[in-house]
Amino acid sequence: MESNFIFHKYPFQKVHHLSTCTFHPFKSSKNTHYFTLLLHLLIICSLPFAVSVKSWDGIIVTESNLQALQALKQELIDPNGFLKSWNDSGYGACSGGWEGIKCAQGQVIIIQLPWRSLGGQISSKIGQLQALRKLSVHNNAIGGSIPMELGFLINLRGIQLFNNKFSGSIPPTLGSCTLLQNLDFGNNSLVGEIPDSFGNCTKLYNVNLSLNSLSGSVPVSLSQSNSLMFLSLQFNNFSGVLPDSWGGGKNGDKSIVKSLTFDHNLFTGKIPVSLSKLTELEELSFSHNRFSNEIPNEIGKLVKLKSLDLSYNSINGSIPDTFSDLRSLTSLNLAHNNFTGEIPDFVGDRLNLAFLNMSYNNLSGHVPLQISSKFDPSAFVGNRNLCGYSPSTTCPVSPATTRHRKTRTKNILLVSGGVIILFLLIICSILLCCLLKKKDTKKQKEVEGGGGDMGVPASDAAGDAGGKLVHFEGGMEFAADDLLCATAEIMGKSTYGTVYRATLVGGNQVAVKRLRERITKSEKGFENEVKWLGKIRHENLLALRAYYLGPKGEKLIVFDYMPKGSLATFIHARGLNTPVNWPTRMRIMKGMVRGLLNLHTHQNIIHGNLTSNNVLLDDDFNPKIADFGLSRLMTTAANTNVIATAGALGYRAPELSKLKKANTKTDIYSLGVIMLELLTGKSPGESEDTVGLPQWVASIVKEEWTNEVFDLELMKDASVIGDELLNTLKLALHCVDPSPSARPEAQLVLQQLDEIRSETATSSGDNGGGS
Ligand SMILES: *[C@@H]1O[C@H](CO)[C@@H](O)[C@H](O)[C@H]1NC(C)=O
Ligand SMILES: *[C@@H]1O[C@H](CO)[C@@H](O)[C@H](O)[C@H]1NC(C)=O
Ligand SMILES: *[C@@H]1O[C@H](CO)[C@@H](O)[C@H](O)[C@H]1NC(C)=O
Ligand SMILES: *[C@@H]1O[C@H](CO)[C@@H](O)[C@H](O)[C@H]1NC(C)=O
Ligand SMILES: *[C@@H]1O[C@H](CO)[C@@H](O)[C@H](O)[C@H]1NC(C)=O
Repeated sequence: MESNFIFHKYPFQKVHHLSTCTFHPFKSSKNTHYFTLLLHLLIICSLPFAVSVKSWDGIIVTESNLQALQALKQELIDPNGFLKSWNDSGYGACSGGWEGIKCAQGQVIIIQLPWRSLGGQISSKIGQLQALRKLSVHNNAIGGSIPMELGFLINLRGIQLFNNKFSGSIPPTLGSCTLLQNLDFGNNSLVGEIPDSFGNCTKLYNVNLSLNSLSGSVPVSLSQSNSLMFLSLQFNNFSGVLPDSWGGGKNGDKSIVKSLTFDHNLFTGKIPVSLSKLTELEELSFSHNRFSNEIPNEIGKLVKLKSLDLSYNSINGSIPDTFSDLRSLTSLNLAHNNFTGEIPDFVGDRLNLAFLNMSYNNLSGHVPLQISSKFDPSAFVGNRNLCGYSPSTTCPVSPATTRHRKTRTKNILLVSGGVIILFLLIICSILLCCLLKKKDTKKQKEVEGGGGDMGVPASDAAGDAGGKLVHFEGGMEFAADDLLCATAEIMGKSTYGTVYRATLVGGNQVAVKRLRERITKSEKGFENEVKWLGKIRHENLLALRAYYLGPKGEKLIVFDYMPKGSLATFIHARGLNTPVNWPTRMRIMKGMVRGLLNLHTHQNIIHGNLTSNNVLLDDDFNPKIADFGLSRLMTTAANTNVIATAGALGYRAPELSKLKKANTKTDIYSLGVIMLELLTGKSPGESEDTVGLPQWVASIVKEEWTNEVFDLELMKDASVIGDELLNTLKLALHCVDPSPSARPEAQLVLQQLDEIRSETATSSGDNGGGS
């Protein structure tokens, strides 16, 4: 990890007011206030990260910090000698010489030593590191108790002790860390109860205490937290009744809890009604406990709930009707309880389940067809009076079956209705196409693009008098007539023309762009340029497969059709249940940069209009940049126009307002905006208010609340991918630097992305975390 980001300048002028930060901006040789964003983030963030800071503020470690570090080294056992760099009289501690230590102004702010085979224990002298923001020593073999002195470190934001051998109880003093955000003590040997004081930590969003031997119940104060998002208590000895005060935020703020995993404990009593106030809840795992009574009807209010696991409890009563409102639910496990009554129809009709298990209950009646056909019989066994889910459990004819028949008939009617409408539509579009064709042949009149075809007269097939179809390498073969009589559907319009999805006879699909004639170059100029564009082949560039010149000067260009659509729809318009994980987002970013790099260095093309709408995804979600080089097909006047409109979309580099001419650095700016989209899940068009996405991100980073920037979906794995998120955020902000000269070239962006996450890396730990 020798990478060193060179942040020439903090991207937004107003940061001079970053006075809440006790940290001095360092000065560059040019005597301007230059900030290393890196250092700011280092101070600001609680997230783990792995970038080495070569620039040192020059302040030597303080005496009390040095003492504390020496005591820490003394009490740790270091079989592999990772701490042998902690050898000098203290000069190296803050200058970057000491493994895993980062400082600001002579005070240690980060200790990051995961995966170092360390044993021994943590010295209580750690309490002298008053500036400590993050302690990350997970995946070692450190034992002893968690020093209560950690609770006196008021700057502490993250404590990662998971996968160690800590014993004893959780020090109640931790409740006084008012800035504490992330606490992960998973998989240790802790005993005792959760301190009530945790409820005082108003920034705490992630608490993981799983896989310990903790007991007692959940403190009321924690259940009322306004900051909590993830609470993991599974595999402990927790017991008692859960408090019924969830979502009871003291300020009446909305709860943001997303996940409660309490499985494999000894909880008893009923499931609290107040859980229904956790309207952001996505995951509830209560299996392997001793919950009893009925499920409260109010649980139906959890409309974002994706996974509900109540298996292996003693819950009785019937499946509440309100479950039909759980529209986001994809996984429902009710196995091994005492549920009675019938399985409601909506479980098959209205819920969109990918996993279901209702085995070993006391359910009765007919299993609705939609679910018995979808799920394995083992999901229904162990219910003595349940039938119709396997050949050996056929139902006797009864009123219940009649009811099902009725719904089935209704469904058949609906489906056949749909088919008829579809059929009519197809006939209509074919008729329309052929009608237009005829009309055109007769009148030889041009039809403006729209509706059911591409509005091009098809009087001449390839090779005939006027029309001319030319194929480039790769792609499917078709004749001009196939193309002109294909059913076409408008996908979008841009300054250059209209894009259609054309379905050829035989069902193959291509994307066709009908260029606006008035602004396209004359035939000869057009053909010269288009032939050259047709030669460009790169896995991350959308290949031009053919062009068609009509007898009246119409110009169509044909591309591969990308069924997964654009990156914009992929990120911003997907369903609730289709999260996009970090490795996928990273892969898309890298592909995009590779495509852009090829354009800039091999093709000598400036894209000029890179947006997430112009990045398409193939079947394997590989990104393909589209819409490049088209300016070459256009007249000069048309091109100035495009640059003028690109700004409205929020991707336009600020200098373009004066410059009027795109260059590699304005492309990099647009790239940076797309990277921010992938990181934040926000669209630059989303009117958060009128500020752009880069400005919004910067303002949040400035508010010292960096975690809020990232897409919530990504935060769940923050303890593992935090470094990568943060480093990618830094890189993206670097790309949107208002000063073009500060922005990196595509080559450097790619190199840095590779350093942040190597192609083969599966997410693991803190990525080394050393310098
Ligand atoms: C301290 O350790 C570093 C790195 O292991 C080594 O390069 C250096 O020579 C050592 N210095 C002393 C004084 O032992
Ligand atoms: C939980 O407590 C019981 C006794 O109450 C004990 O036998 C068991 O070992 C404990 N389990 C764990 C994981 O600590
Ligand atoms: C279900 O209820 C019956 C009768 O009340 C009881 O004997 C049985 O133990 C219960 N089963 C479970 C899994 O709670
Ligand atoms: C199962 O439910 C029926 C009523 O539907 C009840 O009579 C019976 O006792 C229940 N059996 C168990 C084991 O709970
Ligand atoms: C349902 O749960 C039972 C009991 O845990 C298990 O044996 C069975 O394989 C599960 N079936 C499905 C489809 O998950």
